[in-house]
Amino acid sequence: MARDDPSGAAGSTRDTALPAILDCDTGHDDAMAILLAAGTLDLRGVTTVHGNSTVELTTVNTCKVLELAGLADVPVAVGAPQSWKREISHAPGIHGVTGMDGPDLPPPSLKPIDEPAIEFFHRSAAEVDGLHLVATGPLTNIGAALRSHGGRLASRIAGISLMGGSTGLGSATAAAEFNIWADPEAADVVFRSGVPIRMVGLNVTRQVPATPSHRRRIRALGTRTGRAVAELLDFYSEQLALRYGLPGASMHDPLAVSALADPQVLRFESMQVDIELSGEHTYGMTVCDRRHLSTDAAGLVRQRDPFGRPNAEVAVAVDPERFWERFIAVLAGYP
Ligand code: RIB
Ligand code: CA
Repeated sequence: MARDDPSGAAGSTRDTALPAILDCDTGHDDAMAILLAAGTLDLRGVTTVHGNSTVELTTVNTCKVLELAGLADVPVAVGAPQSWKREISHAPGIHGVTGMDGPDLPPPSLKPIDEPAIEFFHRSAAEVDGLHLVATGPLTNIGAALRSHGGRLASRIAGISLMGGSTGLGSATAAAEFNIWADPEAADVVFRSGVPIRMVGLNVTRQVPATPSHRRRIRALGTRTGRAVAELLDFYSEQLALRYGLPGASMHDPLAVSALADPQVLRFESMQVDIELSGEHTYGMTVCDRRHLSTDAAGLVRQRDPFGRPNAEVAVAVDPERFWERFIAVLAGYP
């Protein structure tokens, strides 16, 4: 069982916290997602996947973060080393050679369990009613799990909250966000699965940068976790400033946790989302059908029912300060 929510926020005490497995390619913002998930959800385990770096490194980084925060009781199951079709594509340019450069964290004594990620999903889903999945990396593991065992997993999963895609700008390419772009075929299986999806894309996550002021507040916690998180954000912010000119590291992955643990941080609209699998310039794009929405002075307005077959709740607005208050309060509960 995960720790009580140190922030004491309503709706996330030990008894009411939603059961979830976090699937991640631990890099900098995945580390934040792990910490937020363990403090606000009933975190039943973490599964690792290729993405920001090799699955070996994302697994070591996951174990480092859990050990740092005193969460060594959370099981870690190793997943896929590469995507279904495309050549391996990591992001050393952003996350560094370790996949989580910045703080000097010791090699972890925590080791992953022997059970592969896909089996861990299936066993957990059979044992836990109302289990949610939170995905913060390429969807290779979850897509494979939904396709395996006769597709039975979809009926046992209450929902998938994922960081991925965008209603507009891309990151890996002009059209595609990295997590979806890294394995579009797996993402296509997930978005066609019928499992309720909350999609948190770049269109909202880039509105939540870790400014120097946020990093000062986190460093001022005076704990080993606070120091490590501040160093992670310093490194990640520098890389994103160099690459995209952003004012601070975007809090991509922890916002996928907020989508489940504190949905009021975001505003969602129902729409059909398709994954582009053949476009020369758009391969890996999340094609979001927003024809039923318009924008006026007050923001986004729904004009009619969504077109087509709505298959996802897509985040279209975010409350950064609500996110930061909750996130920093949870961090304060770690050693
Ligand atoms: O596009 C942002 C996503 O790509 C995040 O999950 C980040 O960790 C990287 O994997
Ligand atoms: Ca990630």
